[in-house]
Amino acid sequence: MKIAVLTGGGDCPGLNAVIRAVVRRGEQQGLEIMGVREGWRGLMDPPLHDRLTRQATSGILHLGGTILGTSRTNPFKNPGGAEMVLRNLATLNVGGVVAIGGEDTLGVATKLHRMGVNVVGVPKTIDNDLSGTDLTFGFDTAVQIATDAIDRLHSTAESHNRVIVCEVMGRHAGWIAVHSGIAGGADVVLIPEKPVDIASVCEHIERRHRTRGVNFSIVVVAEGAKLGGGEAKAGARLDEFGHVRLGGIGQQVAELIEKATGFETRATVLGHIQRGGTPTAFDRVLGTRFGVHAADMVAQKEWGRMAALRGNQIVSVPLAEATAKLKTVDDAFYGVAEIFFG
Ligand code: F6P
Repeated sequence: MKIAVLTGGGDCPGLNAVIRAVVRRGEQQGLEIMGVREGWRGLMDPPLHDRLTRQATSGILHLGGTILGTSRTNPFKNPGGAEMVLRNLATLNVGGVVAIGGEDTLGVATKLHRMGVNVVGVPKTIDNDLSGTDLTFGFDTAVQIATDAIDRLHSTAESHNRVIVCEVMGRHAGWIAVHSGIAGGADVVLIPEKPVDIASVCEHIERRHRTRGVNFSIVVVAEGAKLGGGEAKAGARLDEFGHVRLGGIGQQVAELIEKATGFETRATVLGHIQRGGTPTAFDRVLGTRFGVHAADMVAQKEWGRMAALRGNQIVSVPLAEATAKLKTVDDAFYGVAEIFFG
């Protein structure tokens, strides 16, 4: 059987580890593998693809990005797009698709599966907000990069008696913020799940400076956090999945803290640095395990399902379950970070 592999949505450390594993295991299973370029875009007109072999995917395990390229193309937002995908899959004689992506890419996979496409999903996102799996690959790398940055911000904040606000990624969920905040010893962590209350942020900082005899603090804020329930938008540009381009909450929070407390406050935005470059060993292993499992799922014809991590086991769960609702930070976990506020 010929299968197609694609990577969609934002790139993510570990994508190449998954592709390599799908190819290596897939060839052992007797599959012929076609790499689709630029996510779902590559299955629309004109289709963009190459043959993937063990040779073509050798030496990519440690590389960031994706050798297949990616896009935020949504076939369901383009007139006749889904039908185009179906037609191209038939013309190219593709018997199954391995879609590596987050909520948007796998949301499309779920809908295409309902239209009869044989599809298997692999959970990718640095945000770690996909349901059905304990972790997505890429998250560990992003947390490590953010933690390293917070460590660095600590020493400069302390030297200059400053408050530094570090803005990290996390559109709908604050997993990167909470994990890196706990790991980096942040004094306040702000996440999309909880409206930002500047008065209480300032209270934490002032109490810390008063009682601990220090004149510096670190605040970690997820880019999707909202001030007092309002929208934190830098611009109104929407992608094909209806997402606004985020960014700017760190600067807003820094200005409000400085105004309210009088402490000099600066903002640092980590942005795409969290997504670029080499994956951690953990993400290489998780990506490899997901890829091997996805190829096995294809061989077993387990269509409409996603490879997932449950405890220490790789299992498969229905795609519909994984994409029904986002996995957000729960109160108990945020409560651990809160113990160290102020
Ligand atoms: O979905 C992953 C993510 O990194 C989000 O945290 C972030 O909001 C978004 O992608 C940024 O997307 P882009 O690279 O398209 O601006």
